Amino acid sequence: MTELLEVIRQRSSVRLFKETPIEENSMKLILEAALRAPTAGGAEAWFFAVVESYDMRKRLHQLLLDAHRVYFTRLLTKAWTEEKFESWVSGSGGEYYFAPLYVVVFADLRERIYNDHSIEEFWAHQSCAAAVENMLLAACDLGIGSCWYGVPLLLEAELKKLLGVDDSDLRLSAVVGFGYPRSETKPRLKRKGMEAVMKKL
Ligand SMILES: Cc1cc2nc3c(=O)[nH]c(=O)nc-3n(C[C@H](O)[C@H](O)[C@H](O)COP(=O)(O)O)c2cc1C
Repeated sequence: MTELLEVIRQRSSVRLFKETPIEENSMKLILEAALRAPTAGGAEAWFFAVVESYDMRKRLHQLLLDAHRVYFTRLLTKAWTEEKFESWVSGSGGEYYFAPLYVVVFADLRERIYNDHSIEEFWAHQSCAAAVENMLLAACDLGIGSCWYGVPLLLEAELKKLLGVDDSDLRLSAVVGFGYPRSETKPRLKRKGMEAVMKKL
């Protein structure tokens, strides 16, 4: 098996991080991996906000918790009670999702290259998703844990306000947290079987 396939096998989401900062060089390698992703029409219609300062990370962390509250207690068809959510958060000492580094990924639609704006937006988000996956794999290769957060989309306006991003053509695509895992991580290899999700023709 190649090293890349091994990294793909080993990666899993990490939600509890050590406080150890991510070295500048590792951060650069992760961001370079993002920029190497395939991008629809070669448009590179993405924009990355790199959040490192303690103050901003604290505020972003609070927003992540708020967004997860909405997700668990309101969005899920089998919604959690507020009490269940509180006990889940306090189970981690309130530290779930607090990361030494966040990258907030926006679909950047400020320069249009297609007549159909909805397909343009869809492709921009798909390109962002490819960039996110590249970052997760690069991080894993460097021994750095990560988690892809889609739930902040539920509080997009609040997040943009927090980051001082007010252009309506920058659309939130994902938030990613990076850090060294607090404990040993094991890949969640259990997935639906190939026969359940594939068809050979
Ligand atoms: C589009 C997308 C959005 C996600 N959003 C969240 C999120 O907001 N919070 C979270 O804890 N995990 C989130 N995840 C991580 C998934 O829960 C995780 O990938 C899944 O449970 C499989 O586990 P693994 O990544 O360890 O293989 C997201 C993953 C994707 C692809």
